[in-house]
Amino acid sequence: MKACTRRSRPCSRTVRLPPDGIAGSPVTRAPSTAKMGGVTTASFGTSSPMLLSAQGVRKIYRTGAGEVWALRDVSIDVADGEFVAVMGPSGSGKTTLLNCLSGLDSIDGGRVMLAGRSLHELDDGTRTRERASSMGFVFQAFNLIPVLTAAENVEVPLLLAGVKPHEARTRAVETLARVGLGHRVEHRPNELSGGEQQRVTIARALAGRPRVVWADEPTGALDSESAGEVMDLMKELHDSGLTLVLVTHDPAVGAQAQRVIRMRDGAIVEDGAPAGARARP
Ligand SMILES: Nc1ncnc2c1ncn2[C@@H]1O[C@H](COP(=O)(O)OP(=O)(O)O)[C@@H](O)[C@H]1O
Ligand SMILES: [Mg+2]
Repeated sequence: MKACTRRSRPCSRTVRLPPDGIAGSPVTRAPSTAKMGGVTTASFGTSSPMLLSAQGVRKIYRTGAGEVWALRDVSIDVADGEFVAVMGPSGSGKTTLLNCLSGLDSIDGGRVMLAGRSLHELDDGTRTRERASSMGFVFQAFNLIPVLTAAENVEVPLLLAGVKPHEARTRAVETLARVGLGHRVEHRPNELSGGEQQRVTIARALAGRPRVVWADEPTGALDSESAGEVMDLMKELHDSGLTLVLVTHDPAVGAQAQRVIRMRDGAIVEDGAPAGARARP
């Protein structure tokens, strides 16, 4: 058992300290970029290879029936460019961990440092902007807006983040092409297969050029062939430099990560390479 293991894998990126963390102005930041078939993902290096460092994170849900300790002082580091799978039985706290590490949910103790900034100590507006500018999310339920086309679904978060409409459309179309949906940009979700819908959500997550993508059971609602395609895409994104934290029940999915964290009852009980780990290039 080695929860909170500091990994010493060398960072493959240009490393430069942005003066003001991940929310800094693009002018003052020094992005390293990875070109992925027409889509450029920006990554803003820090002086530490650790993108994320969480210490003693506690989450307690208070309900009428009493308290649920969903995270019991969890500590974990995630390196820039790492691909981490989070596994464990239903109810063990995987979704809660993802939501707390990404700042989607509040915490009741501990600290989450993301690129050198304490995520939960930021005010709501700043934290929301951090999420929009540096993170992408993929959920089991695709959460696409049914009346919008694939391209419009990908554009929504860009427009909300202030990207100009023309630029948002260009990026949406490019990113959909990147995930193999160049021929489906004008389709609505109900005109797409489950695997295609999940690829739209991946495009939506990527279009904001995040440095980390959080995925909660991204293959959970897919048949095995579509799940395989989605995982191939995830691995490609990881190989192009994206940091990926992915919750899964599926051992075959977990085996594709560099590192597997196992949770039980709100705690990390194992942290290491998956059996049959694939080698990094
Ligand atoms: N909003 C909530 N209110 C109360 N309890 C919750 C809430 N969300 C999750 N829980 C409880 O917290 C624990 C962890 O849940 P979750 O993180 O969803 O687990 P997992 O994703 O591993 O299935 C479970 O016991 C669950 O019932
Ligand atoms: Mg869950």
